[in-house]
Order: sequence, then structure tokens, then C-alpha cells
Amino acid sequence: MNETPASAPPRIEANGLTKRFSGVTVVDGVSFLVEPGQILGLIGPNGAGKTTLFNLMSGVLKPDAGRLVVNGTEATGLPPHRLARLGLVRTFQLARELDKLTVLENVLLAAPANAGETLTGALFRPAATRRDERAATERAREVLALVSLSDHEAKLASNLSGGQKKLLEMARCLMAEADTILLDEIAAGVAPHLVDEIALLIQRLNREHGKTFVIIEHNIGFIRALASRVVVMATGRVLAEGSFAHVSANPAVVESYLGQAA
Ligand SMILES: Nc1ncnc2c1ncn2[C@@H]1O[C@H](COP(=O)(O)OP(=O)(O)O)[C@@H](O)[C@H]1O
Ligand SMILES: [Mg+2]
Repeated sequence: MNETPASAPPRIEANGLTKRFSGVTVVDGVSFLVEPGQILGLIGPNGAGKTTLFNLMSGVLKPDAGRLVVNGTEATGLPPHRLARLGLVRTFQLARELDKLTVLENVLLAAPANAGETLTGALFRPAATRRDERAATERAREVLALVSLSDHEAKLASNLSGGQKKLLEMARCLMAEADTILLDEIAAGVAPHLVDEIALLIQRLNREHGKTFVIIEHNIGFIRALASRVVVMATGRVLAEGSFAHVSANPAVVESYLGQAA
């Protein structure tokens, strides 16, 4: 169940988002809403601009035009850590440095307290810091239990399977305490049993923890099973929007995407 009051603003309001690379418009005036508690699927052929749109929504890239509002706050052009503070995060493939850390350390580093914590501040408040560390470790272990990685907390991240790394990416998002999580092809290249586990995890985080998701995915079964609403992009624009049944009955969607994907 989603506990957000009915009066809550949309989690994300994208209004005319536009991005050009060397004069080529790859995201072209994209507008849509993500409501609290929704799982929004974002689909479309390769090169449609989906990942670029995520980069605009997560602060990795600044839009050339358009606006982004996150949880009712103007957020256009904010960097990723500021968007995270507004409640919006995306998964990132684990950076190579993080490979050399344990699973637990990877999750701890994603704690919001780490952002803006200075070393000097930490040195002058040792007791408080130790208390904070204990609380953070406890929280990190809760998050690892949620994603079924408890048994692996002491492993180096580099020793996880591809699918387990995706679960760790998800754990880092949860540790950041975001209410909205953007997932870019989280099921790609993952063993089938782990794809099912990831789908169940998304469903549980949505229903029991009120998390809102936007998921880019080529696995159409995954989208059909999870998404309450689907946005279809092609050549930088929104081609269709609605329930999975609605968009999959749209001839333009079948022609540009679903025809090949099926
Ligand atoms: N940093 C970049 N510089 C130049 N072109 C880019 C850059 N990122 C993406 N593109 C181009 O933008 C288009 C959309 O790419 P992308 O957003 O990755 O699409 P999708 O995720 O839907 O496959 C593609 O033609 C891609 O080559
Ligand atoms: Mg992409």
C-alpha cells in the first residue's frame, strides 16, 4: 500500500525536457508525470533517448530546454546529490573503485549522511560519529536483507554475480532513502531466476515500502508484469502513453517497437 496522502504532488513532473548533442535533438520536448506509488515503464527502440532522459532526470546531464519538478520542488539542472536529497535516485553500474569494497561497505557509502560530512567534522565528534556509524550499519544490514544479500555482506563487490550486482545497486538506492528510483535495464544480462527475484523485489518495495519506480526495460514481460503505466519513446519523443494494454494496441507502437521486440 502506498501511504502518500492523496494531495501529494507528483513524484516527478517532466515538462518539455530537451537535450541536443552536436545539434542533434535526442530528447525532444518530453513531458510526463510520475505519480506517487506508480511503477512507470519507459520503453522504446534503441537510440530512442530513454537513457538520455534518465540522465536529465537524475542530474547527470542538464537539459537544453524544459523543466523538471521533483516532489513539488523546482529541480531543473540540479546535480545528482541534490536530486537524491529531494528523493530521486537512479541506479548506476558499480564504479570500479567500489568493486574493491565489501558489499556492506558499498551500501554504507550510499548513506545520505555521507553526503556533506567533512572529515574534520567527523574527527571532532567521535562519540556522535560512532553512534551514527552503528545506526548506519544497522540500516545497511536491513537493506541487504531486503534485497536478499545478507549472506554476502563481507564479500568484495567484484565477487558478486551480474544479477547480485544489480541487487547491490538497488540496495545502494534504498540506503539513499529515496522515494523514487530510476532503473535503467536492471534485468539486462541477468540470469532468469534473478530476473524474477528482481521483479518481486520491485513489487514488494512498491507495495510494502511505498517506493515509486521508473523502469527502462527491453524485457516486455517484465514491463507487462510490473508497470501500472507505460510511456513509449521513439526518436526522442513520447509516442504513446497509458496502460500496457492501451499502448500495445497502438499500431504506431507495434510498428516502431513491439513488432521487433515480440
Ligand atoms: N553523450 C552523448 N553524445 C552524443 N550522442 C549521444 C550521447 N548519449 C547518447 N547519444 C545519442 O543519443 C541517442 C539516444 O541515446 P540513448 O539515450 O542512449 O537511447 P536509448 O537509451 O533509448 O537506447 C542515440 O542516438 C545516441 O547515440
Ligand atoms: Mg539506454
